[in-house]
Amino acid sequence: MTTDEKRRIYNELLPEIESTLAECPDLISGMATVACILHHAFRQFFWTGFYRVVEPGLLAAGPYQGTLACLTITFERGVCGFCATTGETIIVDDVSKFEGYIACDSRTSSEIVVPVKGKTGELLGVLDIDSTELMAFDMIDAEFLEKVCRTLGECA
Ligand code: SME
Repeated sequence: MTTDEKRRIYNELLPEIESTLAECPDLISGMATVACILHHAFRQFFWTGFYRVVEPGLLAAGPYQGTLACLTITFERGVCGFCATTGETIIVDDVSKFEGYIACDSRTSSEIVVPVKGKTGELLGVLDIDSTELMAFDMIDAEFLEKVCRTLGECA
């Protein structure tokens, strides 16, 4: 996929997501909606979904689309744990090179994880998108997915 094509798809999706979430009644409903819209927009998205902070230092699988997810992830482990700890987006070009990577599905080759924060900046969860392709994600994904997660944070 070219960067122009990627931008074009995100530019179409963003208003769709914003208008769909305009009357968001609940964070989990919002997460389910976003996972569905994103997953079906990009063929290279193999797993698209959320892990929610369910207690201090612990993430649990939230709404997702794709193959079976690991049920829980502690903040000390994996790409999701790294994102939850730092509160920053992380792009992993090749998951086999990431120490402590959690392989929920061995077909995943690269991933991006973006934090979802509430109105006061508290961490609500993370958006995790996996691809079977190496280096599937770049700063364009980060820029748009961070906007999506900011919109979602308003649902809380
Ligand atoms: N690979 C992630 C775990 C979640 S799944 O890929 C669905 C990680 O290392 O945090």
